[in-house]
Amino acid sequence: MKKYVIKGDICYSESSDRLCTFKNSYAVCEDGICAGVYQKLPECYETFPCYDYTGQLVIPGLTDLHVHAPQYPFRGLGMDLELIDWLNTHTFVEEAKYADISYAEKAYDIFTQDLRNSATARACIFGTIHTEATLLLMEKLDQAGIIAYAGKVSMDRNSPENLCEKSARQAARDAEHWIQECSRFQNVRPILTPRFIPVCSDELMEELSTLQKKYHLPVQSHLSENLGEIQWVKELCPDTDFYGAAYDKYGLFGNDCPCIMAHCVHSGEDEIRLMKEQNVFIAHCPESNTNLSSGIAPVRTYLDYGMHVGLGSDIAAGSSISIFKAMAMAVQCSKLRWRLSDQSLAPLRIEEVFYLATKGGGAFFGNAGSFEKGFAFDAVVLDDAALRHPQELSIKERLERFIYLADDRCILAKFVNGVRLFERNDA
Ligand code: GUN
Ligand code: FE
Repeated sequence: MKKYVIKGDICYSESSDRLCTFKNSYAVCEDGICAGVYQKLPECYETFPCYDYTGQLVIPGLTDLHVHAPQYPFRGLGMDLELIDWLNTHTFVEEAKYADISYAEKAYDIFTQDLRNSATARACIFGTIHTEATLLLMEKLDQAGIIAYAGKVSMDRNSPENLCEKSARQAARDAEHWIQECSRFQNVRPILTPRFIPVCSDELMEELSTLQKKYHLPVQSHLSENLGEIQWVKELCPDTDFYGAAYDKYGLFGNDCPCIMAHCVHSGEDEIRLMKEQNVFIAHCPESNTNLSSGIAPVRTYLDYGMHVGLGSDIAAGSSISIFKAMAMAVQCSKLRWRLSDQSLAPLRIEEVFYLATKGGGAFFGNAGSFEKGFAFDAVVLDDAALRHPQELSIKERLERFIYLADDRCILAKFVNGVRLFERNDA
């Protein structure tokens, strides 16, 4: 059923500095698309069935722009290292386990169930190098009703042998087979996923570039996350001026190739200019950047330049799948950056991080992450009754408290692309 009305205290972003709130109002879903928010329901919608959430907060579904599904089992563990040592000590060891499809089955069940029960409606997800396990992950996400891009990871150097493609040619054949298999999914689409430049040879990048042009797929990867990583890329790619140019050289950095780069903590002026010119999306992952001591991305600069930015959990460098936590940490990290390193860049405000988590990241999927007319109808109903307060609060105050104080158990219902995925009281 895709024609209905949701009644409640509705809140969404129009832009990074405009938060819209409507008390006791109606969000209309017509064939999976939002037909607008109304304080008084127009007559033409009066016959639509109504989900009555009077007194509850209703917000657009959130977008996680960067998450590693296979890393979910070791979240919260091994946070004492920086990026490259963390990858070698913990991450690659865990990801190698996905050669075993029965392990993948169990692990991806847990990940998918938790993601479904979260406020995330849409996600851009890394799998592993393994085709079979990645297809299994996509199958599970598809069945759960999450809208996602998911990628079989490509990597062929500077990593353990059991996580290296056998050759660039073979990698391309495997990736093409995987792409073709993805046509059976409804909600989940493939995204090319070169892990990051240090583990991708020139030959592999060439092959991915050819596949990108043939299938017009988007790309996700990592960029300028850690100072040691950036130095390593300089040594590996002496002919490129900056890290991002090593992706751009193969046409895998925006323009006709929609692209998400995670982190961009230490991007220089040239890299930022190219990202802006070519509409590259930045996935800001504040918890990950804190846990791996990577640094704090200049998100204020990115917003001032009008660049595309969203939030990522970056499981398992980030420990929490909650994009509410990513919002709170984005504010907190920006304050530390302002205090400790650059007082010309004002800290982020709550309406700005809410925008990043909804319309900002959602833009990678087209019109998603808002209740403006014509947007995909993704909605999450939040029960903030447990966050008791002696006075009546505004919708914005309630949203702010929810971001800092609540957890996924306070999510009452979730709708994605017009489909009701769950209602907590149903079970
Ligand atoms: N860079 C390359 N691989 C990874 C990864 O798995 N996590 C993070 N945070 N950065 C990476
Ligand atoms: Fe990552």
